[in-house]
Amino acid sequence: MPKLYIETVGCQMNMLDSELVVAALRKQGYELVDSPSQADTILFNTCSVRAHPEDKTYSALGRLKHAKERNPQKVIGVLGCMAQKDQELIFKRAPFVDLIVGPGQLHQVPDLIAAARKGGGQRLEVSLDRREASRQEVAQSFESYDPLRDEEMRPSRYQAFVRIMIGCDKFCTYCIVPKVRGPEQSRNPAHILSEVRKLADEGCREVTLIGQTVNSFKYVDGERTTRLSDLLHQIHDVAGIDRIKFVTNFPKDMTDDLLVAVRDLPKCSRYLHVPAQSGSNAVLKRMKRLYTVEEYREMYARVKAILPDAAVTSDFIVGFCGETEEDFLLTYELVRECRFKNSFIFKYSARPGTKADELFPDDVPEADKRRRNNTLLALQNQICEEDNLPFIGRRVEILVEGPSKTSVKQGESGDILQLTGRTTCDRIVVFDGNRRQIGQLMPIQIVDANAFTLFGSVVTEHVGPEVYQLA
Ligand code: SAH
Ligand code: SF4
Ligand code: F3S
Repeated sequence: MPKLYIETVGCQMNMLDSELVVAALRKQGYELVDSPSQADTILFNTCSVRAHPEDKTYSALGRLKHAKERNPQKVIGVLGCMAQKDQELIFKRAPFVDLIVGPGQLHQVPDLIAAARKGGGQRLEVSLDRREASRQEVAQSFESYDPLRDEEMRPSRYQAFVRIMIGCDKFCTYCIVPKVRGPEQSRNPAHILSEVRKLADEGCREVTLIGQTVNSFKYVDGERTTRLSDLLHQIHDVAGIDRIKFVTNFPKDMTDDLLVAVRDLPKCSRYLHVPAQSGSNAVLKRMKRLYTVEEYREMYARVKAILPDAAVTSDFIVGFCGETEEDFLLTYELVRECRFKNSFIFKYSARPGTKADELFPDDVPEADKRRRNNTLLALQNQICEEDNLPFIGRRVEILVEGPSKTSVKQGESGDILQLTGRTTCDRIVVFDGNRRQIGQLMPIQIVDANAFTLFGSVVTEHVGPEVYQLA
């Protein structure tokens, strides 16, 4: 059996892409292995959103130089966003790489590997830079391989990502995604539904619909327009699916019809990821986020009015070009006021090929970026803890996902073990349970909490003594 090693960095899109590439290769008899040294084929599915994931990939590639010298038969491929962004530069920096394949060409991976193994030489397959000509090709590529699945690549067989959009047209000035993932295209709802039905038939209970701006979803077919709210209604009818989530939302497209759909459809998680990025209008303007902080607050108030129990999470970039201490304090204020369930905080990383890199100097010193990052993180952690504590004593319903990190680390193999799951508002719950509970919706009594986790125990319904009374 040919052996495959794959390393994935980046967002949910990449996790899904890796799952699909693995599924396609398994069909050809490949087996997954845990380390590059055991593998005949080594793939890196890459991310370019910040310098850090790129550096990580280049240093992992550097470590393979000798492996390739020792065994020239090994096929090494660089896939995904950095392949699309750096193209030939990857061959220059790592001349022993065989394949460079962009996110829109991943359906070709099995054939490209086979050709490389036969000595076909280096191959570069990427999209033309956002050109109309590549739009069709990229969409077809995704359609051809999205229905392939590989349960082992997912956190559990009960949960799956489903792509509903590809690309992005928003062009936030700091962001490389529109360049590497191409123009925004919504997928045909009929294809999405058939994929969800297939997943449900295979035992999947939770689907997470993914797109860079998932709430901008819009599919026009003649007279008929399908928006995300319509799609949620359609997916809600699929038997076997218990939970529906969707990420990531663009604040400006958070329309009432969507919030009302989430409110009215019990299978929809009460959880919305709506990145604000900054609390300062001057910064938001330079980022070209297309909203003001007042508009973000108005959107947030509408979310809370329609979905009072929903958890809202956000992303922030600190130290963006020209960000002053006052700008940062406005972000701090926004976090303090909105009390997000969680915030992902990033230090600005200049990306060659973006408008911000072209127009504005990256002028916030690294030490200030770090300090602002830590300050905001400390505030967010404090909020996480304060808002988790009231759950103690409450009963929640969770979808059990699998063994907790602790039981995985301890290699627990018995039926009774520590399990983890999530509430409808996406809070992580850890409890002692039985392996057969994985994939089930369960009532859990919360007994303790910290900033990141709720701890609970299975609710065993009180059985009245009359059941045991003998007549
Ligand atoms: N499409 C999503 C997220 C895309 S990337 C959205 O619009 O929200 C995920 C996160 O990475 C972004 O929300 C942003 O906070 C961060 N990010 C993107 N480009 C970055 C850069 N150049 N430097 C630092 N963080 C960045
Ligand atoms: Fe990047 Fe902005 Fe598109 Fe998100 S919406 S992917 S941050 S350009
Ligand atoms: Fe990274 Fe590409 Fe996702 S750049 S964040 S893997 S779309």
